[in-house]
Amino acid sequence: MGADFLGRRLSYEAGRLTEEDCGSDPMAFLRLWIDEASEAGLIEPTACALATAGKDGRPSNRIVLLRKLDDGLVFFSNYESRKGQELATNPLAAMTFFWPQLQRQARIEGTVAKVSAAESDEYFAGRPYGSQLAAAASPQSQKIRDRAALTARAEELAAVYPDQVPRPSHWGGFRLTPEAIEFWQGRPGRLHDRILFERGPEGWARARLAP
Ligand SMILES: Cc1cc2nc3c(=O)[nH]c(=O)nc-3n(C[C@H](O)[C@H](O)[C@H](O)COP(=O)(O)O)c2cc1C
Repeated sequence: MGADFLGRRLSYEAGRLTEEDCGSDPMAFLRLWIDEASEAGLIEPTACALATAGKDGRPSNRIVLLRKLDDGLVFFSNYESRKGQELATNPLAAMTFFWPQLQRQARIEGTVAKVSAAESDEYFAGRPYGSQLAAAASPQSQKIRDRAALTARAEELAAVYPDQVPRPSHWGGFRLTPEAIEFWQGRPGRLHDRILFERGPEGWARARLAP
């Protein structure tokens, strides 16, 4: 059964994006856009699509939550998941944020490395107990027999660790160090604004891309 969505045509009129708006520090500007998405009441303003590819070059993509913005972009996951395995063989990755109500997109490309064990420990210890249990109980991305197998494993762990679960060694943070960051603001008539930052020997270089 086919479908078409030809009737859906939104004109993007929420804003514009100039070189001056972006300034010279794309990480500070990314922070501003996340803050503005949050202030606009968007749910999960830090959710982004994370694209990876393993040795075979076959891309895979999923949503993760950005948890920290410092020299890089930090997210947390299972190191043995599909993304974890792909990043272990090929550390190049791309992230895309989409904030629909603001008609904005940000794209980041870079290299991913695990954060330190101490950093993962600290974050894990601050997670709600249920999230700790889930991280420890779930062999993320593996085929499992049924849901009951998962909940049984969570119950077993809850009996062993009634208050606080220790961080499993297969779970922790990743930091993507950006080499390119692009900001996109929708404009009327599909003449959108795109400003790209690329990291070079002299620091960030800024350019405008055709939409
Ligand atoms: C809104 C949202 C937030 C998510 N946040 C995370 C996250 O921070 N870390 C994570 O491992 N998975 C997160 N997930 C689940 C992933 O999208 C994905 O299902 C999981 O990480 C397994 O991916 P993989 O098999 O490609 O490794 C999130 C999903 C959604 C929809």
